[in-house]
Amino acid sequence: MDQLQKIAERILNSIKANSSGTEEKTHYECEICKDEEWLFDIENNTARPCKCREVKLYKRIIESSGITEAFLQRNFNNFKPTNKITADAKAMAMDYVKKFDSIKNLRNNSIAFLGQVGAGKTHLSIAIANEFMKRNIGVRYMQYREDITRIKQVAMDEESYAKEINKYKNATVLLIDDLYKNATHRTRAGYEVLNDADKRAIFEIVNYRYFKNAPMIISSEYLINDIIDFDEGIGTRITEMCKGHIIEFQGQELNYRLHKAL
Ligand SMILES: Nc1ncnc2c1ncn2[C@@H]1O[C@H](COP(=O)(O)OP(=O)(O)O)[C@@H](O)[C@H]1O
Ligand SMILES: [Mg+2]
Ligand SMILES: [Zn+2]
Repeated sequence: MDQLQKIAERILNSIKANSSGTEEKTHYECEICKDEEWLFDIENNTARPCKCREVKLYKRIIESSGITEAFLQRNFNNFKPTNKITADAKAMAMDYVKKFDSIKNLRNNSIAFLGQVGAGKTHLSIAIANEFMKRNIGVRYMQYREDITRIKQVAMDEESYAKEINKYKNATVLLIDDLYKNATHRTRAGYEVLNDADKRAIFEIVNYRYFKNAPMIISSEYLINDIIDFDEGIGTRITEMCKGHIIEFQGQELNYRLHKAL
């Protein structure tokens, strides 16, 4: 209701603006809804979101978090492979984009870039996201460390927690960047284990998306075996969803920043 109220106000304002001599907009990003993001059914007095809405919403979230530039700058054109491993990774990412329409409803519709820091995991993940957004496919960008902190902060309040988690459960495509970053601690015996709060949140998101066949793009410094060791339930679901599209970067020579310095 609140939202409908806002829309009504916006439309009223735009009518006022037009009648006061402002030129009418002739070009719209979305011709279907004329950039209102909502489609109205006057007879039934209802409104439903236009298909462009999710993408625009996620773009606003990216803008408000100040990472627009980093996002816009990462595409396939400016990803320059430095060896066979990064060339194969780029080819797989592009192939994934190409066939996405035909696999998007299957369980096995996701992709993961794992391992070595600086190998281009985030770059390729965002390149995929940008291609999808161009096609009006909504990709919610989850910066693991920051966004999981926000989730954990409301963990004691059931309603806020559910609301926060739902953002990541319900996105058409979810990009989890740097999965499990800062999410582990060492036991006395020296084992690296996943923190309970991270486990709880990620299990809820991944399990939900697993049963809905909802695609994910994942980047992580951990390899797939580590991810399975941390939590088998989460790890095996991710493995199944990303089967055939798991790229593991191993070796410091794959760090693009070091490579450039050579
Ligand atoms: N093959 C590449 N071609 C062009 N730029 C690259 C390449 N690999 C990495 N980069 C750039 O190097 C930096 C580190 O890459 P990033 O994707 O953040 O690495 P990771 O997420 O694996 O740690 C980024 O600025 C990225 O755009
Ligand atoms: Mg990264
Ligand atoms: Zn629209």
